[in-house]
Order: sequence, then C-alpha cells, then structure tokens
Amino acid sequence: MKTEHQPRILGFLCNWCCYTAADSAGVGRYQYPPNLRVIRLMCTGRLDPSLPLEGLAAGADAVFVGGCHPGECHYQDGNFHALVSAALVHEVLARLGVARERFLIDWASAAEGPHFVQVITEFTERVRSLGRLGTAEGTDEETLRHRLAEAAEMARGRQVRIGLVHAAREMIQQREYSRDGIAALVQARCAKALAAWQPEGTAP
Ligand code: FES
Repeated sequence: MKTEHQPRILGFLCNWCCYTAADSAGVGRYQYPPNLRVIRLMCTGRLDPSLPLEGLAAGADAVFVGGCHPGECHYQDGNFHALVSAALVHEVLARLGVARERFLIDWASAAEGPHFVQVITEFTERVRSLGRLGTAEGTDEETLRHRLAEAAEMARGRQVRIGLVHAAREMIQQREYSRDGIAALVQARCAKALAAWQPEGTAP
C-alpha cells in the first residue's frame, strides 16, 4: 500500500507570537499536522536568509517563518527586516526552479492559536501536494539540495549582506512595506551578487 508523503517542515518561530500561539494551540488541544520542527527565535528579524536555504539543503521539504503581525513586532520592525530576508530566499528559490510554495512567512499573534493551526495545516497540505523536494520541480533531489547548500553559502557572502542592508534602508526611507515592493528592492540591490552566483542550467 502506498503511504502518503509526510513532508518535513522546518519552522522558525518568533518567541513572542507564533511560538506562543503554537504553545497555546497545544494547551488548547487544537490538532495540527506533526510535520513542523520548530526553532525558536526572539524575533523574525534575527532570521538569516542562509538558514531557510540551509534547512532545505539539509533535508527539509519546506520552511515556515512565523512572526508577529506587521506593526506588532516587539523590536519595532524586525518582521519587516524578515520580509527582506524572505524576499531573497524566494528569489533564490525561483532561480533554482524550486516551487515558491515551499517557503512561507506569515503572522500569528500569541492569542491566535487557532489561526496558527490553520496557517500550518494549510501550508502542510500545500507542501504535501508538492511531494518531496525535487518532485514538483522535476529535478534530481540530490542536485537540488547541493545547489541549495551553495545558495546558502552565497547568502552568507558580503556582497549579498551589503545588498540586503541597502534594500532594508530603502524600504524604510521609501516606506515601502508591501511584499512586492520589498522583493523589487532586494532584486535590484542583490542583482550583482545573484548574477555572479547563478548556477549553470538554472533560470535567471
Ligand atoms: Fe515577533 Fe519581532 S518580536 S517578529
């Protein structure tokens, strides 16, 4: 009998909101898929863009980042900085031909246990339908994970760091907090580093 694929999902949860929401969901006996393995951060602003890429390279099928709602970050604007990092991750995944749905950043307050459960349940189902990393992508899994490891290395590089700092600064100066707007800033500011890294046989 064919068993259903159980995706491995790595979660980076903010201590003050999503982590507490997950905890309260457990205490309230709300059921959600057991596929999520959690790493607690004090704020999503601490998320290094290399970490989700490294997680995917190391065996995860998807990565979730959960933070406080925009405007409710305990460190002012950490979640907007997380959106900058997330935009880089999505750009890298697109260039590697990895389904965008394998990486999600979303919000839930500490009081929103049921909402957290809904977000994780829907995300897990979407990832389950994609199958193991490489299946939906039509690429050999090992090759893909190797490329993701190289991408994580690139994301730790100086050029990318500088690009992300500039993108974050412009985000604040221009008060451009939409996801599309932030993605455009990151693409523009990290264009050189991304072009220098782009692996052979992958789409720019
Ligand atoms: Fe939760 Fe910053 S403290 S995202």
